[in-house]
Amino acid sequence: MSSVAILGASGYSGQETLDRVLRHPLLEVVALGSDSLSGQPASALDVRLNGSLPPFLPNDEALAAGADVVFACLGNERAAVLEPPAGAVVVDLSGAHRLQDSALYPAWYGFEHPRPDTLAAWSYGLPELFPADGELIANPGCYATAALLALAPLAGAIEPAGVVIDAKSGVSGAGRELKQSSHAGFVLENVAPYRVGSHQHAPEIAQAIGFPVCFVPHLLPVRRGLLATCYVRPLGGDLRGLLEDAYSASHVVRVLPDGIAPELARVQHTDAAEIALFEDRATGLAVVVCALDNLGKGAAGQALQNANIALGLDETVGLRLSGVLV
Ligand SMILES: NC(=O)c1ccc[n+]([C@@H]2O[C@H](COP(=O)([O-])OP(=O)(O)OC[C@H]3O[C@@H](n4cnc5c(N)ncnc54)[C@H](OP(=O)(O)O)[C@@H]3O)[C@@H](O)[C@H]2O)c1
Repeated sequence: MSSVAILGASGYSGQETLDRVLRHPLLEVVALGSDSLSGQPASALDVRLNGSLPPFLPNDEALAAGADVVFACLGNERAAVLEPPAGAVVVDLSGAHRLQDSALYPAWYGFEHPRPDTLAAWSYGLPELFPADGELIANPGCYATAALLALAPLAGAIEPAGVVIDAKSGVSGAGRELKQSSHAGFVLENVAPYRVGSHQHAPEIAQAIGFPVCFVPHLLPVRRGLLATCYVRPLGGDLRGLLEDAYSASHVVRVLPDGIAPELARVQHTDAAEIALFEDRATGLAVVVCALDNLGKGAAGQALQNANIALGLDETVGLRLSGVLV
């Protein structure tokens, strides 16, 4: 049994991580971090949480609680100052340790990285494509996960210039904090792009895939789920074969049969991802679509997968992959 501390347990990704740890047979929660709920019982977050869980601690105390595994579910700037405890597996769900080049942080994240010399100690962990190496794991962003699952296996078989990623996410992707842009009056019965040309997942995708992409996210009037539609120019070769080879052994990522499109409804509340490949008859472009749950494979599910791998466990333990149709 490995002990777990969750920092930012009161946020959306923190709650989703807690939910998965609670059903994990080999993990045990020893510290729940929340600055806003510090001192209160776990039931203050959700009445379904019973007395077997410890009360909330300030995030810094949860970090220092001696847990074997720390899930950091904090905002980017808050996570950037964390000093990882020696010997612990730390999975950071924020973007604070994803970019290797600290000079990118001011432009894309809006802050100077406070610990630039430590970035090299973190490894970017997208298990199907780039399994993390070491105990400090930067969990990929939700959009970046979808874009990379769709594109990385094809990187050598497509024209690198002019790749366009049109992506859409449910409102939980923006976190629990109250903001005008995620107000019901703005979101409901509306769809709009945001951070066009300046979203922080663009350099993350470029770092992993090796060339810049045009990435445009949109906000959908749904609570959860994310869909990325990627437009690429093939150089020849069997794109479907490359995708199928990349995910043939995966229990998480599924390449759909020819002609079937990914759907949010099939991936919402799961840790799975669906990918489909289409050819645009008019232009010859290939269109690769990936759907996943931003809080599942896009956050907590992938964080558990990364922790499982770091602990030497089967990567799918505790994930939400089975249901009535699986
Ligand atoms: N949401 C996603 O789909 C998603 C996907 C991938 C990665 N991430 C990343 O994961 C990290 C956490 O994201 P998140 O979406 O989980 O953020 P969040 O819901 O805003 O929560 C983050 C923390 O903010 C504080 N907080 C903000 N508003 C609050 C409120 N109204 N009530 C209570 N607490 C509040 C809480 O900390 P205290 O209680 O300690 O004050 C909470 O733990 C971010 O770096 C984000 O980029 C998110």
